[in-house]
Amino acid sequence: MCRFLHRCSPLSRVDSSMADNMLLVTQCHESNPDSFILPAGYDLKTAVVSLPVIDMSRGRDEVCRAILDAGKEFGFFQVLRDMEAVCEEFFQLPAADKAEFYSEDKSKPNRLFSGEKYWRDCLRLVYPLPAGDTEDWPHKPQRLREVVENFTVRIRALAMDILRLLCEGMGLRPDYFEGDISGGRVGLEINSYPPCPDPSKTLGLPPHCDRDLITIVPPGAVPGLEVAYTGDWIKVEPVPDSVVVNFGLQLEVVTNGALKSVEHRAATNSAVHRMSVATFIVPADDCVIGPAEEFVSEDSPACYRSLRFSDFKRAHNHANLGSSLNVTTNLKNNQN
Ligand code: OGA
Ligand code: NI
Repeated sequence: MCRFLHRCSPLSRVDSSMADNMLLVTQCHESNPDSFILPAGYDLKTAVVSLPVIDMSRGRDEVCRAILDAGKEFGFFQVLRDMEAVCEEFFQLPAADKAEFYSEDKSKPNRLFSGEKYWRDCLRLVYPLPAGDTEDWPHKPQRLREVVENFTVRIRALAMDILRLLCEGMGLRPDYFEGDISGGRVGLEINSYPPCPDPSKTLGLPPHCDRDLITIVPPGAVPGLEVAYTGDWIKVEPVPDSVVVNFGLQLEVVTNGALKSVEHRAATNSAVHRMSVATFIVPADDCVIGPAEEFVSEDSPACYRSLRFSDFKRAHNHANLGSSLNVTTNLKNNQN
């Protein structure tokens, strides 16, 4: 399709019917002529995002890096937005569609469930799915699989980058967290917190520490995440295009307590629906995790036992009455 908007070619060379179509020729329009009306249902909604600005006057290396970063970053935040949109679509599906995936069987890695005493619904998924059809993800919305897969791969890569940076900062070899210790299936908890009639009487998620290695949570637009800090709960203000990083209990064990897994919870609100997506980087079940030797010396003996991750999980579930999310977490009890 081609139509001149304001690049006028010489009138003498166009026939008059074509000239009539030129916007600059037809003087003023009361309304859009029919040919300027997009098909019904065409989506003109846009999101407000600032494009990365690259200063070409900088040194060649810096410009080069900025261009690459812009490409990567922009793609990354698009992936976050797609994920947010598709999760919203999932929770907006008719109840009958969601019911297909609902299960109270805690041994199922992929399922939709409700928070029992807590004000949340949760779609829990693990990635990747094994070959064969023993496990599945929801089939609706149709693009859910593709979007979730994209998201998970990108968030996992980000988490691994962060772990490498932590190694650098703490004097561990850079690949300490490669392999089995981060090699379990990635867990996703897609949380939906509908408006709650009385937020003062319940929580979306009770106080807990994540039992994995590290968790990445894009904060979404609606506040609700709270973190324990010097005896108080502080609200985490969502920052657009950022992610919240939670150190999991395994990171606390590896660093012999140098990095603490911080207790957090989710509050509800009475006004708006809130969603969050937590991505958990977990060890393989038979990976044995204990304090790294770099963190143990005569002066600072090991404060944590070395445990197979599967045994840790069992003890953790047991200590918490069969719930993976506990009211209070006591890592030391867990390890007894
Ligand atoms: C979690 C979690 C926080 C939130 O799923 O483990 O802590 O804000 N979520 O929903
Ligand atoms: Ni958590």
